Amino acid sequence: MGTNNNTFGTNIELATEKLKAEELVSFATETVYGLGADAESLFAVKKVFSAKGRPTDHPLIVHIASVDKLEYWAKDIPADAYKLARHFWPGPLTLILKKQDHVLDAITGGQDTIALRVPRHPLTLSLLRNFNGLVGPSANKYGKVSPTRASHVLEDFDTEISYVLDGGACDVGIESTIIDCTSDDISVLRAGIISEVELSQVLQRPVQIKEKFKIKVPGAKLSHYAPSKPLFVVSYNEIISNIELNNLKNKKMAILSFNKKPSDVNLENCYWYKIENDPISFSKYLYKNMRDMDKLDVDELFIERPKNSTAWRASLDRLARASKK
Ligand code: TXA
Ligand code: MG
Repeated sequence: MGTNNNTFGTNIELATEKLKAEELVSFATETVYGLGADAESLFAVKKVFSAKGRPTDHPLIVHIASVDKLEYWAKDIPADAYKLARHFWPGPLTLILKKQDHVLDAITGGQDTIALRVPRHPLTLSLLRNFNGLVGPSANKYGKVSPTRASHVLEDFDTEISYVLDGGACDVGIESTIIDCTSDDISVLRAGIISEVELSQVLQRPVQIKEKFKIKVPGAKLSHYAPSKPLFVVSYNEIISNIELNNLKNKKMAILSFNKKPSDVNLENCYWYKIENDPISFSKYLYKNMRDMDKLDVDELFIERPKNSTAWRASLDRLARASKK
């Protein structure tokens, strides 16, 4: 992070000062770190796009301190949206709503909707109380793996960021569930740790997963959340056959598996990591594991494919986007 060694910590006053000066401050949330800017400064919002290398038509989430700020940013808010916000906030749920007229076009990509979320992190909630809202895309370069530690943010950014509000390791580890609340027919646009089953339970009616996105979600673009090395998401048996093939080609691999190191396979070209077969801990460490594996002296990354079920959907979604087909 350049020569400034004063650039991360837990100083909310300093973070506030930098943001008021239209600079960028990364903040911790329970999902991933955000690349924060004052949502009412066009100058600062534009900086977010250029720092990330993100296309300007990809809209940003506005983070707010509490449900009381909903009407400042959104209008025509359905009762069910309030119900979900009250139930899950602060937490990993983002609502898409009709926007108020004053919302900057730069935030919404010119759409008439806005994405809003109250994150669940005490430091960041204190910071947010000093603003009407902070935009906060994940604090990674466009298309790359999202950060779940302050150190990850510093790997991707240098002088573009003035401060990182360091809240430690993220609890959830993958991005929030995004739901479309612009009509009565609430639906999931981006899978997250809060599933359609939980949403349905709160609303007492079915919540659908939208197959075809009517509105733009960049996460829905292929090759997102991706490490720099080729990542393959395959079965245990396919991992083993790839080891045998790669041994012949002298290719090195990093492997993340639910199984322990096999004793009857030649692993001299492999790093083998055993992980728990549990969706919550898998998603919590997914991006950290991807970043760690990417840094090893290997040619290819392999992650064992989890089973196809609701509990694994968010991780499967991120793995599909990060991997080679
Ligand atoms: O957990 C999270 O959501 C994290 C943390 C930092 O809060 N943020 C995050 O931001 O993942 P980002 O920019 O990486 O992803 C935001 C997603 C994008 O896919 C974007 O298209 C979608 O939200 N989005 C934002 N505004 C939208 C809108 N008006 N309509 C549809 N999608 C929208
Ligand atoms: Mg992102």
